[in-house]
Amino acid sequence: MNAHVKTPVWVDVGAVTDVPRRGARRVTSPRGDIAIFRTGDGEVFALMDACPHKGGPLSQGIVHGRAVSCPLHAWNIDLATGEAMGADKGKGCTPVVPLEVRDGRLLLSLDAHG
Ligand code: FES
Repeated sequence: MNAHVKTPVWVDVGAVTDVPRRGARRVTSPRGDIAIFRTGDGEVFALMDACPHKGGPLSQGIVHGRAVSCPLHAWNIDLATGEAMGADKGKGCTPVVPLEVRDGRLLLSLDAHG
């Protein structure tokens, strides 16, 4: 069989505790900047650091619950799906970056979207 199956390459980008609770950290990658978010409950999510509205830096936004408010025009983006929420639902989506936590370390899969 000649199916081309990509093996994910996980890249260690730091400790979970490097990301403040209800905050974010930006990581540069060959795919572009990635925002890693940590909620008040300690959950972590990774999205491309570009708002689906006009590309605002989501890593500079305000994290509340499992969402982030874009610093430019205050769209609320779901951290789990990257989708705009509320009144802006259905208007856009930021790509999610696969993220795993292993032994307190943050691992990003940087090749999942080519
Ligand atoms: S660029 Fe994010 S709300 Fe406008």
